[in-house]
Amino acid sequence: TQLGLADRFGRVATDLRVSLTDRCNLRCTYCMPEEGLDWLAKPELLTDDEVVRLVSIAVKHLGVQEIRFTGGEPLLRRGLVGIVARTTELTPRPEVSLTTNGIGLARQAQALKDAGLDRVNVSLDTVQQDTFIELARRDRLKDVLAGLDAAQAAGLTPVKVNAVLMRGVNDQQAPQLLEYCLERGYELRFIEQMPLDAQHGWNRATMVTADEILDQLSDRFDLQPTDAATRGSAPAESFTVRGGPQTVGIIASVTRPFCGDCDRVRLTADGQVRDCLFARTESDLRSALRGGADDEELADRWRRAMRNKLPGHGINDPSFLQPTRPMSAIGG
Ligand code: GTP
Ligand code: 5AD
Ligand code: SF4
Repeated sequence: TQLGLADRFGRVATDLRVSLTDRCNLRCTYCMPEEGLDWLAKPELLTDDEVVRLVSIAVKHLGVQEIRFTGGEPLLRRGLVGIVARTTELTPRPEVSLTTNGIGLARQAQALKDAGLDRVNVSLDTVQQDTFIELARRDRLKDVLAGLDAAQAAGLTPVKVNAVLMRGVNDQQAPQLLEYCLERGYELRFIEQMPLDAQHGWNRATMVTADEILDQLSDRFDLQPTDAATRGSAPAESFTVRGGPQTVGIIASVTRPFCGDCDRVRLTADGQVRDCLFARTESDLRSALRGGADDEELADRWRRAMRNKLPGHGINDPSFLQPTRPMSAIGG
């Protein structure tokens, strides 16, 4: 059937974000504790075939046009290149991208490109080694920078960089990071920290806001807002730098939510549909899949899952409750 993933508020999800693992090889303070988390056990994870089956249903039956693979850290998933290859072979051909911390990308960029991957977004919060170690708790800055370089060389473009600013850690480094990205042709976006960390340590009072970031950047760079009409459902507000053509983005999820234009739906590594990053309920596709449901039944379940989607994340409501799953188990 042609029916897509519509919710009760008139939004239709055409962008599917698939988490391939909840594991990560960094320990960013805004995401998880030093000791890591209780990782999903292997039998709980969707197999490569199961991932491809669900992605294929989304593309063929549910109108999904973009697939983004996330984690945890998706490069840790052994079958990644094969999953990407089978996804880019689908008809209609979805746009396929990856959100990664960049570690190991130097080694895998060309194989991913050959598998049809269109582009990558890489998390990079600082280009200073001491700050990187403080923030990510691992000495891997060089690997990340090499990964970015390899992605650019392989044509996984536009290469986008995601940066979260943490007060007292890297919040004075926004201009330095932007210079680095401009020199190399990466599209940098600053992201407001969201209450999705496993430790529940998010604090509105210390969050570095979009306005602060823009003020800091405007002291050093000539920034001009790009045409708001071209934004669509993109989370980033975009600004040209020094007259363009390069841009910098701000993802102001907390202070300027964009939920009204949301076109996203998520699939966790253990096969649960989440209609929102902040959803309080999930819909279990894995059980249905393993119970022998056919494509139509799975598509139907998926459509029904969207009826629970709330109008917004509610972070700014007094009654806000952080979801039980942390960011690393949902995928960005
Ligand atoms: P493109 O702009 O198409 O490259 O994708 P993207 O920016 O959505 O992807 P990415 O995975 O790089 O996400 C960047 C940041 O936006 C991350 O911090 C995400 O958590 C945040 N983000 C992504 N999707 C959502 C969303 O649905 N809601 C909110 N509030 N934030 C999101
Ligand atoms: N708030 C905002 N962004 C976050 N990310 C991880 N945790 C958070 C958080 N609590 C970012 C990562 C990555 C993207 C998928 O989400 O830096 O770039
Ligand atoms: Fe969509 Fe939820 Fe993100 Fe808002 S917070 S944009 S509703 S996924």
